[in-house]
Amino acid sequence: MLFKAFRRNEERDLDLANMPNHIGVIMDGNGRWAKKRGLPRSAGHKAGAESLKKIVTEANNLGVKYITVYAFSTENWKRPKAEVDYLMDLLMDYLINAEKTLAGENVRIRAIGSRKELSEEMQRQIKKTEELTKDRSGIVMNIALNYGGREELLHSAKMLCEAVKNGEKSPEEITEKDIEEGLYTAGQPDVDLLIRTSGEQRLSNFMLWQVSYAEMVFVNKLWPDFKPKDLIECIRVYQGRGRRFGGI
Ligand code: IPE
Ligand code: IPE
Ligand code: MG
Repeated sequence: MLFKAFRRNEERDLDLANMPNHIGVIMDGNGRWAKKRGLPRSAGHKAGAESLKKIVTEANNLGVKYITVYAFSTENWKRPKAEVDYLMDLLMDYLINAEKTLAGENVRIRAIGSRKELSEEMQRQIKKTEELTKDRSGIVMNIALNYGGREELLHSAKMLCEAVKNGEKSPEEITEKDIEEGLYTAGQPDVDLLIRTSGEQRLSNFMLWQVSYAEMVFVNKLWPDFKPKDLIECIRVYQGRGRRFGGI
């Protein structure tokens, strides 16, 4: 596996010592991709799901440790019910098939976001997929599903308030680490590289805490057109950036 990653990186001139540990992806532009072809938006989402499989596989082959993909935001409930239902069905299929399709890739799958608004069937499937893939050794894939950065911070704040109320902590003792431990990504590294497709340049409530020092790369391609070679190009751009974290 390591050898494979090494060989592939060599081929593409990527600096193995400077790979992003954690990549965040705002997969945007499915609707516009479909519209351009005179197809229903659902066709764009379907094509987007295919794109996702290839990108996760490539990231894993490149030795990236974590990838978080924005699949459904807390704001996406505003869409027409038929589109929401379609997206939920697609995500359900993705979770069910992930066991088979991503088995060879050794991907560990987790869902991040608020679960209580999801159907019971979806909640059960998330648990099942997480359990089935938890001992794998490859990339960790966080599927942001009913995820919102503000909701996540609110969730963390509530947990801390509980701890204070129960006398386990005093407000003075609270640190950044405590907030982090209440996030859905607790224990995972911050996002190093954030990619958004479709030309939009905004966060749309994605990982507000974790992207504090991420390098952002905005790509004009629509998500279904985003190919493994585009991921490599984004990593190359990332590697060309000087990260200072406030230093000099
Ligand atoms: C991203 O594509 C997928 C989700 C938000 C679920 P969009 O559906 O936002 O596509 P556009 O932005 O309308 O083209
Ligand atoms: C962000 O895309 C959410 C996902 C990719 C799941 P949107 O298409 O919903 O974001 P806005 O509305 O353009 O900000
Ligand atoms: Mg969009």
